[in-house]
Amino acid sequence: MTLTELKIECEKCERCELCRSRTRLVFGDGVENAKVMLIGEAPGKDEDEQGKPFVGRSGKLLTEMLAQVGLSRDKNIYIANMLKCRPPENRDPKKTEQDLCIEWLQKQIEIIDPQVILCVGRISAQRIIGKDFSVTKQHGELIERDGRLMMGTFHPAAILRNINNKPLLKADLLKLAEAIK
Ligand code: URA
Repeated sequence: MTLTELKIECEKCERCELCRSRTRLVFGDGVENAKVMLIGEAPGKDEDEQGKPFVGRSGKLLTEMLAQVGLSRDKNIYIANMLKCRPPENRDPKKTEQDLCIEWLQKQIEIIDPQVILCVGRISAQRIIGKDFSVTKQHGELIERDGRLMMGTFHPAAILRNINNKPLLKADLLKLAEAIK
């Protein structure tokens, strides 16, 4: 199965109520054979309107910082979220919504088969890397799992709230870029 075929299936998903309140499905964006797969939380307002992940204010910061370490959606990275539909008012994804949506993400991971998975923010790091993962304490650690590397780091929205952490995110991204050379 290709990502395009999977997206067509995902468009029809009615497993939770978010499909009724969303504007557009935000399936993912980037290259199918990417070495790096980035996983965020859920679409926000801009993403919901445009149907693409990380295109709002925090997304622009992320895209810029990825480019600084040689990563871009048209070359070597695929970007997706835990949830494919926007939770109303940008509330945190519910556990039930994550449980119902995770299968789409697992299938995306299978198809892309990335060397490294980069989780941005607590929600995706705790779901993908480990339930007790602490972004503050463990960000930037490369963890090997099932023949793949995983890293958790700050969500770009958290960097916008506390710009002092920007160098920490930059250092994590540099380390990740080194790991895939
Ligand atoms: N925050 C996320 O976690 N994902 C997006 O796509 C946008 C903002």
